[in-house]
Amino acid sequence: MSPSIVRLLYLVAAVLFIIGLKKLQSPATARKGNAISGVGMLIAIVVTMLELEILSPAALVGGLVVGSAVGWWMARAVKMTSMPQMVALLNGFGGAASLLVGGAEFLKSELTGEQIPMDTGITIQLSLLIGAVTFSGSMIAWAKLQEVMTGKPITFPAQKTFNALVFVAIVALSAYQLYTPDAMLWPFYAVCFLSRALGVLLTIPIGGADMPVVISLLNSYSGLAGAMTGFVIKNDVLIVSGALVGSSGIILSQIMCKAMNRSLANVLFGAFGGSTAASGKSAAGLTVKSITAEDAAIQLAFAQSMIVVPGYGMAVAQAQHTVRELAELVEKKGGTVKYAIHPVAGRMPGHMNVLLAEANIPYDKLFAMEDINSEFENCDVAIVIGANDVVNPAARNDPSSPIFGMPILDVDKAKSCIVLKRSMGAGFAGIENELFYAPKTSMLFGDAKSSLTKLVSEIKQL
Ligand code: TAP
Repeated sequence: MSPSIVRLLYLVAAVLFIIGLKKLQSPATARKGNAISGVGMLIAIVVTMLELEILSPAALVGGLVVGSAVGWWMARAVKMTSMPQMVALLNGFGGAASLLVGGAEFLKSELTGEQIPMDTGITIQLSLLIGAVTFSGSMIAWAKLQEVMTGKPITFPAQKTFNALVFVAIVALSAYQLYTPDAMLWPFYAVCFLSRALGVLLTIPIGGADMPVVISLLNSYSGLAGAMTGFVIKNDVLIVSGALVGSSGIILSQIMCKAMNRSLANVLFGAFGGSTAASGKSAAGLTVKSITAEDAAIQLAFAQSMIVVPGYGMAVAQAQHTVRELAELVEKKGGTVKYAIHPVAGRMPGHMNVLLAEANIPYDKLFAMEDINSEFENCDVAIVIGANDVVNPAARNDPSSPIFGMPILDVDKAKSCIVLKRSMGAGFAGIENELFYAPKTSMLFGDAKSSLTKLVSEIKQL
């Protein structure tokens, strides 16, 4: 294959990645975006294999069939709630690939006695460092989310200083290897070992529930490692795709942090969810009004407008299909129904969108926080389904609250509010929620799915 055709096809692949990413911006076009990026990746793989004659065409087709079958099976089998673990594994594999390619290039030059130019040497060292940190960090993230190890932050005295020393040692060893071409192999193996240790050390102090942010950050690292490897083996499409993954991962991490009103440094080094009790007001002396499914059903059946606010509890209860049934009944009775989506509702980016899409709820009924907040004032009933922190007015009113400053859905401004949850238990931030004690709020206690099922059958009888 001529080099210009290879370059042209790589350019086509890169353009397809960018179009695919753009389409991931909206749930309505996300599937198409995924497919378009997939075609780009297929082109990139086939062209690389054919150009470098790495595999015979038969082996290439065989590999594609087996790889696609495994990917298809994994994607079908994974539960929605286990998606962050799966992404962690895939990031880890990406990091390991960069580590192996960077390492192989280094060892090849050692065996052949070929002198590596300084720029390639630097990118090899970066591939090793970032690839190894991504690999071991992702494995710890996977283990925490899969509950193979504790999800609580693991901390020890002078942890940050210790981590900084490990990092300095890696940089020093890399520099020694670079500036001493005849050095033995031990600095290379030491860099690989210490970088993997650093990945573990950086991930253990992070609370399990903060893992989605960390996974997005590790995703970004896997892209950076890929881009570095692209420089090592002089592959344009790997550089472009690595840079795209690297930048989109860091943007997503920033979006999540902003929506939680936390800095990335606080997520990475704050040991959130550890033993320190969260501050914030206590609810002593406040009373709660609970409501029966019969009474709640009457309120909903006669509502002119209803806004559904889904949260993590809806995902736990797998109540999305019953939510749609309820919404359809309210619409049949003449009410309008909209869904308010907080950017960090649930435990992973787009969690609520994916669940509601699975239940065939039309995308045009889903509204982002900034688009729907002004509508709560005129809304007859806001129904909160397993959401807590994302509707906690303390984020607006209580400077002592750990979530103070986090943008929230203005559910407390609705004419009335019904909250579906099992108890007065706290959400992810571990704090009281004044919304549950407000005069306009009624609590419908129970598992979200069974409460919704009761509401549906009550409304059907009205
Ligand atoms: P949370 O504040 O975590 O509250 C979820 C509530 O659901 C709990 O209070 C729980 O109360 C209830 N619940 C659990 N199982 C239930 C069931 N089967 N039926 C009914 N209710 C149930 O959820 P949220 O409002 O969605 O907020 C998300 C939180 O996660 C935020 O603090 C956010 O910063 C954090 N976070 C999000 C992300 C992303 S990317 N989405 C990433 C990391 C962290 P009961 O126990 O009383 O039922």
